[in-house]
Amino acid sequence: MEKIVSNTFQTLAKNKTANRMAQKYGLKMGAKRFVAGDSILHAIDCVRKINDAGMVAMLNYLGEYVHTEEEASEATRNCLLTLDSIYDTGIKSNLTVKSSSLGLDVSREICVQNLRKILEKAKEYGNFVRIEMEDYSHCQLTLDIYKELREEYENVGTVIQAYLYRTEQDIDDLNHYNANLRLVKGAYKESPEVAFPKKSDVDKNFETIIKTHLKNGNYTGIATHDDAVINEMIGFTEHNHISRDQFEFQMLYGIRSDLQKLLTENGYKVRVYVPYGVDWFGYFMRRLAERPENVTFVLKNTFK
Ligand code: FDA
Repeated sequence: MEKIVSNTFQTLAKNKTANRMAQKYGLKMGAKRFVAGDSILHAIDCVRKINDAGMVAMLNYLGEYVHTEEEASEATRNCLLTLDSIYDTGIKSNLTVKSSSLGLDVSREICVQNLRKILEKAKEYGNFVRIEMEDYSHCQLTLDIYKELREEYENVGTVIQAYLYRTEQDIDDLNHYNANLRLVKGAYKESPEVAFPKKSDVDKNFETIIKTHLKNGNYTGIATHDDAVINEMIGFTEHNHISRDQFEFQMLYGIRSDLQKLLTENGYKVRVYVPYGVDWFGYFMRRLAERPENVTFVLKNTFK
């Protein structure tokens, strides 16, 4: 049953009509728990509170499945505005982007052009930009683009998903680029031909790749809310004398705030993922797919 509910949310996340309806009616159904708000002002306000609590942030202007050059340019403009706002307000945050929102499905060239504009601006401000990993159909292309840009920019990173069979190989390969990686379990619905179907295998591979990347001496964003993985990594880094400057824990806004606070109090760097913008529906549906228990929370908030 849980699998069916999860698959339904994954499908809804990609449904264009549902996305359009959601945009029209604004942040509803309890989405405010996971999304900072519609505008950059809401996002800045949210990051200020995170900073006050001793944590840093990464801002994401929400948007995916963009299919025209104009939409990609609009998303790029919003990313540039986000970088300007981070600089102007002095909040502690970097930027995280989806290549599909910057035009990857329109053309590789347009996407790279937009990413360059964003990376140039970030460089000017001494800031950092991470290119996220989306569904498997974008994986190779995203890595190729990352490698191309990494040759030119220091301030770029990407994401690797533990559920893919290819991941261990990618971690080895990216070691040659001294890659700053966010490591995640993986959030999309993938076929058993490319991804581990069993959660226990994903969890095992997740721990393996985090340890490898850390041992290779690379900066690592350990992006999870999983207590078991976090405890394992605390033990691993202590035992192997890996400096706390070489990694950070990353969590999503609105999820496990208790754990974010506890890690901060214990002297670990915690970065909170803060999404904002009108295109919130797909992101929200993926959070529900990960944890169908959240649906109860949603039902309670739908009519508020
Ligand atoms: P797991 O799913 O095993 O959950 C462990 C525990 O965390 C649960 O028992 C629960 O307590 C809590 N939890 C997890 N999800 C929750 C939810 N939605 N609501 C409430 N509680 C929840 N994926 C991707 O494919 N590409 C990407 O670029 C990114 N980027 C990214 C950034 C950051 C900062 C994070 C934290 C995650 C991502 N992800 C991602 C998503 C990631 O792949 C994964 O789907 C989620 O992190 C859920 O997996 P966990 O590691 O938290 O473990």
